[in-house]
Amino acid sequence: MCALREFVTLVGMLTHDYRYETCLQGSITHAWTVDDCFQGRDFDFSKPFLPERIAGVNGIACLSDDEKRMLNQIRGNSYCHIFAFVEEYIVPMVMDRARADVYGDETRLWSLLRFAEEETKHQEMLRRACDQFAAGFGVPCGLVPGREAVAEAVLATSPLTALLLTSMIEWFTQLHYVEHVRDRGELDELFRDILRFHWIDESRHARLDSLLIDEVAASLKAEEREQAIDQLLELGGAVDGLLAQQIDLDIDALHQAAGRTLSRDERDEIRAHQRRAYRWTFLVSGLEHPTFVGIVGQLTTTGEAKIAAAARALAV
Ligand SMILES: [Fe+2]
Ligand SMILES: [Fe+2]
Repeated sequence: MCALREFVTLVGMLTHDYRYETCLQGSITHAWTVDDCFQGRDFDFSKPFLPERIAGVNGIACLSDDEKRMLNQIRGNSYCHIFAFVEEYIVPMVMDRARADVYGDETRLWSLLRFAEEETKHQEMLRRACDQFAAGFGVPCGLVPGREAVAEAVLATSPLTALLLTSMIEWFTQLHYVEHVRDRGELDELFRDILRFHWIDESRHARLDSLLIDEVAASLKAEEREQAIDQLLELGGAVDGLLAQQIDLDIDALHQAAGRTLSRDERDEIRAHQRRAYRWTFLVSGLEHPTFVGIVGQLTTTGEAKIAAAARALAV
């Protein structure tokens, strides 16, 4: 029995050298406030907000250059909203993990409390971005409702599923900033800074996720870890449904901002391009992230093939 338990623990452990102590030190050393990020600035609406890899507007033949820029900005607004939306559950999830050993390792507890606090700060930053956007863009832009319901749905899955979703989000957040935003001087400076400040914390959170995954996965049976991947992919399907709703809201906002009627064919063309771009941004870039793929591969035997198949299906 003891040997079996040892085997389960070994299989559940991820390969890394992360420690709560270094995460805590990084959180203290690199602490920032929402005001540090905004510095009293407003968006420059003459510039795009998002890189083309995320916005996916350049190939839409029915739009003028001005309209493509407007759609890019609408996408910037929804990018902030959807991040705040999908991260809503992380605060209660991390606090539950902290409470699980509240009288134990104080460094662990402090790291996790700062993790939760930083996510609360992200919500404030992203909401402020959406408020400033609404004040400056000129026409109202619809944003998908129901963030608390989504948070409840995520928290109703297994703790490992919620942690895997978090890990995926925190790895793709870093990829978006480092590979697609950091060196793009043509993008709005404030928007780039919002993504930069977010990345500063997420790079640490991704390591904390792995530490928490180790703690949770160690006591799970192999089939429970496999089930977590199935649940993760179900959540991905629900996120895809939300993205489809947001695309139609974006097209409505573009119709108003451009001041012209978009024909059915034009809407269909925009929707097809945006579906690919949204799916890459919020699903595929996470499912294919090499570190996340490595995590899934270490936890399960079939998970890697399942997430690769899901990413391929979404990339069509
Ligand atoms: Fe965040
Ligand atoms: Fe985070």
